[in-house]
Amino acid sequence: MGGLTQVLVFCAVVVAVRAAMIESNIPLPDENAWWGPGAAEAVDTSIRPFKISFEEKMIEDLRYRLKNHRPFTPPLEDAGFNYGFNTAVLNDWVSYWANSYNFTERENYMNLYPQFKTNIQGLDIHFVRVKPEVPAGVEVLPILMLHGWPATVLEFYKVIPLLTEVSEERGYALELIIPSLPGFGFSDATNKQGLGATEMAVIFRNLMHRLGHEKFYIHGGDWGAYICFNLASLFPDEVYGYHTNYGISFSPASWITWFMGSFGEGAQNLVVEKHLAGRLYPTTSILKELMTKSGYLHIQATKPDTIGVGMSDSPSGLLAYVFQFVSMAVRIDNINKTDGGLLDHYTREELLDNLMVYWMQNNFNTACRIYAETLNMRNLNNGWFSLSTPVPVYLIQADNDLLYMSTPMLQHIYTNIVHNKAIDGAGHFLASEKPELFSNSVYEALDMFRKQKDDCKDEL
Ligand SMILES: *[C@@H]1O[C@H](CO)[C@@H](O)[C@H](O)[C@H]1NC(C)=O
Ligand SMILES: *[C@@H]1O[C@H](CO)[C@@H](O)[C@H](O)[C@H]1NC(C)=O
Repeated sequence: MGGLTQVLVFCAVVVAVRAAMIESNIPLPDENAWWGPGAAEAVDTSIRPFKISFEEKMIEDLRYRLKNHRPFTPPLEDAGFNYGFNTAVLNDWVSYWANSYNFTERENYMNLYPQFKTNIQGLDIHFVRVKPEVPAGVEVLPILMLHGWPATVLEFYKVIPLLTEVSEERGYALELIIPSLPGFGFSDATNKQGLGATEMAVIFRNLMHRLGHEKFYIHGGDWGAYICFNLASLFPDEVYGYHTNYGISFSPASWITWFMGSFGEGAQNLVVEKHLAGRLYPTTSILKELMTKSGYLHIQATKPDTIGVGMSDSPSGLLAYVFQFVSMAVRIDNINKTDGGLLDHYTREELLDNLMVYWMQNNFNTACRIYAETLNMRNLNNGWFSLSTPVPVYLIQADNDLLYMSTPMLQHIYTNIVHNKAIDGAGHFLASEKPELFSNSVYEALDMFRKQKDDCKDEL
């Protein structure tokens, strides 16, 4: 195809796909759905302080299991992490967890910031809430920050001091609300089918209302990013702006736009800027990479309760499974390293703290269900993948992340992208890997959202 023909075919297909995706009667999730056990009942609406506590019995049992595992299967020669977690380094991790991890110190660290629980739609939702003390004249802006899998609220601990700094020059400070997703961390899991990312968006919007915030800012990474997308789509009038380090769209239109770009250079230039083309093309090698990386996603989206049994029973199995994901999500070339590069960007404590939460709560299984409850035909047929939002969106996307999405791919769902920044030398968990860079990005986004708001006011 000639260059011009490519461009015309590209535009025609994209317009047609987009038109086909715009559903007029998308059913919305129930704002009062009941996720607690049994039938709906009146809930206790109080906000209760909460502290994490490691019980002696849990620690004893964990240590026993860590010390009494069967011998691990030796790795293949020169395998790196290509076949999964390399057992050559597993004994080190297991004995560190059993013998050197200081449970008292780590428990104290986890309780560094004020935490609470409150019941929303039948589930106790856990959250960290940090409010800055501000002098008169400094505005306090609420921001909801959502983690994903296999993370916890701890992902944000290093940015909490940076994001609650008070600066008169900036003119505003942030109140952070950082919840555990339902079924994750210290939030209750449901025992009912159907609690996916879209329904979680409703829960978090109701949580923000409970805390007195009718309108607020949002940030999300990984599943948190997809939940925030839903929140911004379902309640656009309640969200001032959305910052994310994960440009994820499940809208078929986004993926078709990507494929269209593989028809030649003319089409490709419409999808992605030249210097970022390697993040999306050639399509076959990117797809191959996605295939080798996403086995976990397929099992968790189809049979989370099967993998959940082993993960609940074996702390070394849980460690291998979760840390293999972390290795892959942090740096692409970690796959060829015997130690998975796990300690190149994180300390043993940081990685084990996060894992401890899944272990002590015994909720790896319920956390995995978010894949099955979201990535399914119900969500596709409902049209929920193709929702869109006019809320201003600021994206920062790292070169080593699991995937990249360009502005033309994301515009199907985000009609007001104020910035889509590509950065090098970082991975999937940006807040914990690069706290300064992450915080500066959040501030830059807020400055842009506030400026856009002021500009709109000027025009009125
Ligand atoms: C573990 O941490 C606690 C609290 O910080 C400290 O008092 C204790 O000495 C530490 N234990 C070891 C073995 O280092
Ligand atoms: C891993 O090593 C193989 C074989 O040496 C090489 O072909 C591949 O490009 C490497 N992968 C990464 C991500 O560095």
